[in-house]
Amino acid sequence: ESVVVVYGGTSSEREVSLKSGAAVLAALERQGINVVGYDPHERGLTGLEQLAPDKVFIALHGRGGEDGSLQGALELLDIPYTGSGVMASALGMDKQRTKFVWQALNLPTPESIILDEHSDWDGVAERLGLPLIVKPVHEGSTLGINIVRSKAELISAYREAARFDAQVMAERFIVGEEYTVALLGDSALPAIRVEVPGGFYDYEAKYLSNTTQYHLPCGLSAADEKALSALCQRAFEAIGGSGWGRVDVMRDGEGKFWLLEVNTVPGMTDHSLVPQAADYAGISFDQLVVAILTTAER
Ligand code: DAL
Ligand code: MG
Repeated sequence: ESVVVVYGGTSSEREVSLKSGAAVLAALERQGINVVGYDPHERGLTGLEQLAPDKVFIALHGRGGEDGSLQGALELLDIPYTGSGVMASALGMDKQRTKFVWQALNLPTPESIILDEHSDWDGVAERLGLPLIVKPVHEGSTLGINIVRSKAELISAYREAARFDAQVMAERFIVGEEYTVALLGDSALPAIRVEVPGGFYDYEAKYLSNTTQYHLPCGLSAADEKALSALCQRAFEAIGGSGWGRVDVMRDGEGKFWLLEVNTVPGMTDHSLVPQAADYAGISFDQLVVAILTTAER
């Protein structure tokens, strides 16, 4: 069996993807699998077609890899690939349309408003309350995301997010605890509570800082963790997700969970969450990578 790990790419999460892909590649090599890495940033898709692998492990994050475009190309090439299909990948990349689906199914997600240059800034702040969150609709790794604490900061936060994406949203800020649940096959891995002393879980806290705390076990009661896992599985299924993924959630002061987003190609770096949850569940990194590879089916 020949495998190609596709990583790198052209999105703003390229650096993260290079790390995820290198870790995945090394794990598959350790398993004696016939594997090569492929960076579409350098060679487009023609080289991938020539390699004609039996399977592709998608380790691209962000647009052009996690968003259904590569998945669609691989469908046309008839090459099985890991993780979600075209539709779920595209939906998962769009934080606003993901919410539309969840809202239609009565799954809890914080209220949001799409912003543009002509938005009624006062109206947005009044409706969502302050602080609020401004984020690019199709971005990952917290790039371009800011917490807005005063009306005056709203326009500059919008403009910063707009540097990353043509679509920008404002979202109600949930004060509370942040959780994430990794999904592998049909099961949920143990939930992680992420705590960033004195800050928020931004790019720096995700990949650079050593002070970010990952609580495993997450500290919830067994019943609450079960409810959280079930919610995340429903949220993933709602967008048509399959294979593996990760759902990010906030828990407010009253203990209510709020869905934030789905990641259909979660990070696999040494700081990343899915490998940590797997490890806690007794699944080594190599076993995790092999399990994800088996999700590549025709
Ligand atoms: N978008 C990053 C890679 C993550 O969700 O882990
Ligand atoms: Mg994300």
